[in-house]
Amino acid sequence: MAEMAILKIGEEVYELPVIIGTEGERALDISDLRDQSGLITLDIGYKNTGSTTSSITFLNGEKGILRHRGYSIEDLAEKSSFIEVCYLLVHGELPTKEQLATWDEDIRHQTLVNEDMSNIFAAYPTGSHPMGQLVAMVSSLSSFYPESLNPNRTPEQQLHTIRRMLAKMPTICAMIYKKSAGHPKIYPNNNLDYVSNFLNMTFKHVTEDYEIDPVIVDAMDKLLILHADHEQNCSTSTVRIVGSSHANLYTSISAGIAALWGPLHGGANQEVIEMLEAIRNDGGNTEKWLDKAKDKNDPFRLMGFGHRVYKNFDPRATIIKKACDQVLTKLGIHDPVLDIAKKLEEAALNDPYFVERKLYPNVDFYSGIIYRAIGFPTEMFTVLFALGRLPGWIAQWREMRADKQPIGRPRQLYTGAVSRAYVPIEQRGAVTA
Ligand code: ACO
Repeated sequence: MAEMAILKIGEEVYELPVIIGTEGERALDISDLRDQSGLITLDIGYKNTGSTTSSITFLNGEKGILRHRGYSIEDLAEKSSFIEVCYLLVHGELPTKEQLATWDEDIRHQTLVNEDMSNIFAAYPTGSHPMGQLVAMVSSLSSFYPESLNPNRTPEQQLHTIRRMLAKMPTICAMIYKKSAGHPKIYPNNNLDYVSNFLNMTFKHVTEDYEIDPVIVDAMDKLLILHADHEQNCSTSTVRIVGSSHANLYTSISAGIAALWGPLHGGANQEVIEMLEAIRNDGGNTEKWLDKAKDKNDPFRLMGFGHRVYKNFDPRATIIKKACDQVLTKLGIHDPVLDIAKKLEEAALNDPYFVERKLYPNVDFYSGIIYRAIGFPTEMFTVLFALGRLPGWIAQWREMRADKQPIGRPRQLYTGAVSRAYVPIEQRGAVTA
């Protein structure tokens, strides 16, 4: 029998079941609290609210643990490939050789996007932010594949849409890059693996060959794996809540991309590099910038620092920091902002303000330095995050549909005016607001 928690309010006593996850995590099931008591729970920003059960990703923020389907992020980053991690997240198990080959093949042969999508791109003004284009382009896929509009069709139809989404995302991201550079697009080459194809579409020029560097492919693959899923963060929760109304996959993912764009979430990777550049241009005085971050009258925050759930270290940041050193060394690049980043990290980790608040570098702190070394402009960084996070959003959306979850609809505690009579305009006093 389930353990019960007792909630006592005045003389009234309510029993709430305690639900236990497979890793021993405990949760109070308050789903019928309102029916029992008329009370709702209030948790602004969902800081302590579980919105779902999920078997995709386990995260322990105190211990710095991140696992997908039971496999540690360290193992996956070192031993797996992004395309395999996509399979793992979507299907729940690591694929056999044959399953991986079929998965890879099915995705490879759907990389072309409808030529009409170029017309949409053409309408964007030069200099428009890549993330705005990505939101629109991914949602536009639903116009090209109307059979995806009903997400409750056959499981095979749903999987087809999923593979199509995975296949077309790198092409769309590369097209956005080409548009921003003012260069003609490069079509996919399906002889290439997922990451190489993306790099080729991005960096090849129509007039020249592009030599695919395995060091860059490995680095990019690892970065995508490290971003692949992160349970119920802001963008994933958005994908789930949009999908809960039975919106199609493309539109649900597009909503997640919009949520990711914000600087407190995925948009932080662009902001980190801009911050490091600003510190460099300002003479490299990290102490001055740490003071700014600590000053409550200054809106500046140390970008790439802090996390809602990691309160010890972000395991992805640890892997990326190491990879950053390795990649830059292998590519023979010395980036002065890496020195500033390390100096800033060290100073912050020894500063009581950051120590007391348990603020550590997050996944975004070092990722931008690798993206930069590969050759991406800063405005593309959050697009790369979206490319990596795609399989996680898809897996979470699919799980929600498979679990037949109800439409997401939080409650609120109303704090506005109580009922009052409408005042005709002639009788209203001067507006002071
Ligand atoms: N720089 C300075 N102070 C910070 C920072 C920071 N980066 N992050 C948190 N704090 C301070 C807050 O001011 C607050 O201080 P107070 O208690 O004195 O008021 C305290 O630490 C707690 O911060 P909250 O904002 O309440 O924590 P929350 O969990 O809501 O926010 C977040 C987490 C948004 C990640 C925050 O740490 C932040 O803004 N970081 C910078 C942006 C960033 O790097 N975002 C990427 C996150 S990872 C990802 O989404 C992929």
